[in-house]
Amino acid sequence: MKAMINQRYGEPSSVLRLADVPRPVPGRDEVLIEVHAAAADPGVWILVTARPPAMRLMGFGLRRPKHPVRGRDLAGVVVGLGPGVTRFAVGDEVYGTCDRGSFAEYAVAPSKWLARKPDRLSFAEAAAVPVSGQTALEAIRAAGSPDGRRIMITGAGGGIGAFAVQLAVAAGGSVTAVCGPGKAELVRSLGADRVIDYTREEIDRDGPVHDVILDTAGCRPFPLLRRALTPTGTVLLAGGGHDAPGFLGGFTRQMRAPLVSLAGRQRFRPVAGRERAANLEELSGLIRSGTLTPVIDRTFPLAAAADALAYLSEGHPTGKIVITVRE
Ligand SMILES: NC(=O)c1ccc[n+]([C@@H]2O[C@H](COP(=O)([O-])OP(=O)(O)OC[C@H]3O[C@@H](n4cnc5c(N)ncnc54)[C@H](OP(=O)(O)O)[C@@H]3O)[C@@H](O)[C@H]2O)c1
Repeated sequence: MKAMINQRYGEPSSVLRLADVPRPVPGRDEVLIEVHAAAADPGVWILVTARPPAMRLMGFGLRRPKHPVRGRDLAGVVVGLGPGVTRFAVGDEVYGTCDRGSFAEYAVAPSKWLARKPDRLSFAEAAAVPVSGQTALEAIRAAGSPDGRRIMITGAGGGIGAFAVQLAVAAGGSVTAVCGPGKAELVRSLGADRVIDYTREEIDRDGPVHDVILDTAGCRPFPLLRRALTPTGTVLLAGGGHDAPGFLGGFTRQMRAPLVSLAGRQRFRPVAGRERAANLEELSGLIRSGTLTPVIDRTFPLAAAADALAYLSEGHPTGKIVITVRE
């Protein structure tokens, strides 16, 4: 099968190439999927570039990638079942995540990371959901009960942000969306009550009024976040900017969170997306009811996955970037 692989770390345009590789075989509790669409996110860029360097110590491969095929999100059709799989049958249309690469004509995924694709979505739309949608879901859960509370979301028009705005609004939150120029109309259409264009105003424009700040942009200094937060508010740190410098790069912000929380009553907490069927089922329900709709910026064919990652690394996608594998 054709797959987009990198056998060494480096810039996407130098190390990613389309290759013929063996079709994967599903193991116990795994499903073989004919991939129709995948998606790009900063995590894929990190696995291609090995930036920040700390990722080499996280089990993805010290000197070179442990698994050569890139991509985590996928949507497609079940074409094979490993032993023990009872939740799916051949022919089911599914979406979810995999850990051995989805930028390929076929992928294997643990059945516990998959759900049936909502009929309302195309394969491309469904592939946009899993990583960013589940991270946004965990973040809004971590926000406690958003009902009637003010939530600021930085990077509101990006991959995680566009889901988080919709989920926060659906949970009754009053959302301040922080984004760059050109995204105000989008975030308002997703339900944001207020918009701050960070190129014209700072995020503390309205004073310390936010009960929760979900920080996906990962580039505003902590003292500034504090000034936009109520005295007992919480900052949820989803990321630190995929290209932040240093050995730990963007992970630094999340690792500093417990220490920073020691000073005063404001809390700083890292949030992580968790891949699980129950999360996808919850997102599917919201998608079916029309409460949640993925936002897609651009689609790239499989052979242009390096261009997709280069575009993503500019840092300003509007929603998600999708890789189409089958038209
Ligand atoms: N914790 C987890 O489990 C998890 C999972 C997935 C991703 N992440 C991390 O979360 C972060 C966000 O991921 P994502 O997929 O949402 O990324 P994304 O789609 O690339 O979005 C990044 C956002 O950052 C904003 N941004 C860029 N420069 C900015 C600046 N100078 N000031 C303010 N905002 C700026 C952009 O907004 P504009 O376009 O409006 O400028 C964009 O919306 C990344 O660091 C990623 O690695 C964490």
